[in-house]
Amino acid sequence: MSLEDDIKYWKLDSIWGDAENMPLHRGMEWLLSKWLLGKGIETLSDKKMLSGGCASGRIEFHMESMGAKHIQAFDFVPEFVEIAKRNGSARNSNVKFFVGDMRELSCLENVYFDYVVYLNRMLCFVDNAGFDKSLREIHRILKPGGLFLFDALDYKGRKWNELLSLFLKIAWTLQGAKIKPRFLPRVRNKNQKVNSKFWKTDQNLLYWFTKGELEYKLRQNGFEILDFAKEADIFPDPEDSIIFYVVCKKC
Ligand SMILES: C[S@@+](CC[C@H](N)C(=O)[O-])C[C@H]1O[C@@H](n2cnc3c(N)ncnc32)[C@H](O)[C@@H]1O
Repeated sequence: MSLEDDIKYWKLDSIWGDAENMPLHRGMEWLLSKWLLGKGIETLSDKKMLSGGCASGRIEFHMESMGAKHIQAFDFVPEFVEIAKRNGSARNSNVKFFVGDMRELSCLENVYFDYVVYLNRMLCFVDNAGFDKSLREIHRILKPGGLFLFDALDYKGRKWNELLSLFLKIAWTLQGAKIKPRFLPRVRNKNQKVNSKFWKTDQNLLYWFTKGELEYKLRQNGFEILDFAKEADIFPDPEDSIIFYVVCKKC
């Protein structure tokens, strides 16, 4: 998919522009509380933070409510950034929203941020080259010792991913295309109905990681892993098995 198609997908087919009041997933709340508040609100208040894929701004407003005072946030859909700015004005927020693509953040200074936060599967939305570019940008803009908090999809966390991959391989071959391993389409659309076109080659795809691969890539790009958890490691009653919650430090 081209950048234009990607942006069109997020604008038209996703629910995120209107998600301002949707509660955060409890795993996200756990990650933010543990790693942003670990050293106390006073410490957080002077930290510089970048948040990616803001859409309505709900994650950024949540971080602000936790005591963060210097948050910049971006999304590559200009209409979402306008919505986030409007939502921010309505609640007297100080978050600075701007249009940006996580693969190319040259508008941001080197070695500037204490935290980069990419929640709600941001790193799963780009191809392999886009992932490498995004990680390099995060490493460039973080201060040494700065933290990168994110979540990502776990390929092995959903039992039927292998079956889906096999089905797609056949369907794509019949359409004259070759699948890219572990890039899977959404099987439900924004109304939670089955996406009847999921087998077509023009679908917006998500990348599903394996733990080993993610750990390897983070280390290769100069990060030390501090936390790598799934709901089963966090809560006594895990409801979700497909999300990794990860924190790493710029070495
Ligand atoms: C799953 S939504 C999450 C929105 C918001 N963080 C939330 O949880 O309500 C992902 C967001 O990331 C944005 N996005 C996807 N790829 C991006 C990229 N390469 N650069 C910047 N934003 C991107 C989309 O436009 C979308 O708003």
